[in-house]
Amino acid sequence: MTNKIEFIDLKAQYADLKQSVDARIQRVLDHGQFIMGPEVKELESRLEQFTQAKHCITVSSGTEALLIALMALGVKAGDEVITSPFTFVATAEVIALTGATAVFVDVEPDTCNINPALIEAAITPKTKAIIPVSLYGQTPDMDEINAIAARHGNIAVIEDAAQSFGAEYKGKKSGNLSHIGCTSFFPSKPLGCYGDGGAIFTNDDDLAKAMREIRVHGQERRYYHTRIGVGGRMDTLQCAIVLAKLEKFEWEIAQRLKIGDQYRSLLEKNPGVQLLSVRTDRTCVWGQYTIQVSEREKVLTALQEAGIPTAVHYPIPLHKQPAYQNICRISGELGNSESVAARVFSLPMHPYLDYKTQEKIAHAVAKAVVKATETVDA
Ligand SMILES: Cc1ncc(COP(=O)(O)O)c(C=O)c1O
Repeated sequence: MTNKIEFIDLKAQYADLKQSVDARIQRVLDHGQFIMGPEVKELESRLEQFTQAKHCITVSSGTEALLIALMALGVKAGDEVITSPFTFVATAEVIALTGATAVFVDVEPDTCNINPALIEAAITPKTKAIIPVSLYGQTPDMDEINAIAARHGNIAVIEDAAQSFGAEYKGKKSGNLSHIGCTSFFPSKPLGCYGDGGAIFTNDDDLAKAMREIRVHGQERRYYHTRIGVGGRMDTLQCAIVLAKLEKFEWEIAQRLKIGDQYRSLLEKNPGVQLLSVRTDRTCVWGQYTIQVSEREKVLTALQEAGIPTAVHYPIPLHKQPAYQNICRISGELGNSESVAARVFSLPMHPYLDYKTQEKIAHAVAKAVVKATETVDA
């Protein structure tokens, strides 16, 4: 028996859900419809109920969800799409893949989400979409962002909800807060499968039809292709696994909120640690439990020595990445994105994390921060 602390404990989750997961997998093996089998539709219906979105389209990953959304909107070379430079690369990658230009707007330093007050200045006649990212499990100010898009006419808002599935904004579910919402079922996400998977949500019938067709090579019916598409289906087996995990998802969300609150009370008195602000009108499902410190590398070394696993989401903002620095457009200053990228790191976070382990982690963080500042002063 080891006391190893897991960053994300998928084994504990599997032990808890083993019966349902195994039974669901066995059922797919028995019926053998591995592509677009009955579990695909079943999952889509369940997720429509969960989010209250009219349409759910499962797809092969969160990245593919974003790409299909942009393709359905007709985003192309010469267009611009506004987003945050402080996100996982996929958000900007899909913009580049359509040939459009990613336009980066700075984030708020306390939520690390896009600052809506800076979006309007980035809009030009070429702007076709805004992709707000619900980073770390909390949505940005979606009402403000939707209102800006509406004021400018034909601009779509796509929420990148890859890290926030299960979170709420003013009582509504993340993923169903704008024209299109995209999420990921990557294993470490709040709702994960055992491979790659994702989903798109919309209340727009025409967009839903387009995205369903694009998912399967742009075909309207078998071997009749009305638009350019992709091979973007989610496997039946992966849908079956998500269906099994949905049985405990409400409990898992409640655990995530509770564990987030416990981290806050354990860490908030530490002057060397800056916690993420969570706005009062929304919940954060802590896709990552991310905090900010100065002297990050020293803190991370001390935590590694103490046996605490950590990760940095994300060390380099996208406007500084070699592949993007010459093809993006920067709107205003991106100082907050640069400063948080130098300060953030994430602590272990999953629904099976117990309070004693959290105490141990918080204690190690406190010691690591003191040690890092002492070595600076010395
Ligand atoms: C913010 C964000 N967008 C997009 C993605 C892409 O999702 P996937 O890994 O399922 O392609 C991820 C996850 O990795 C993400 O965190």
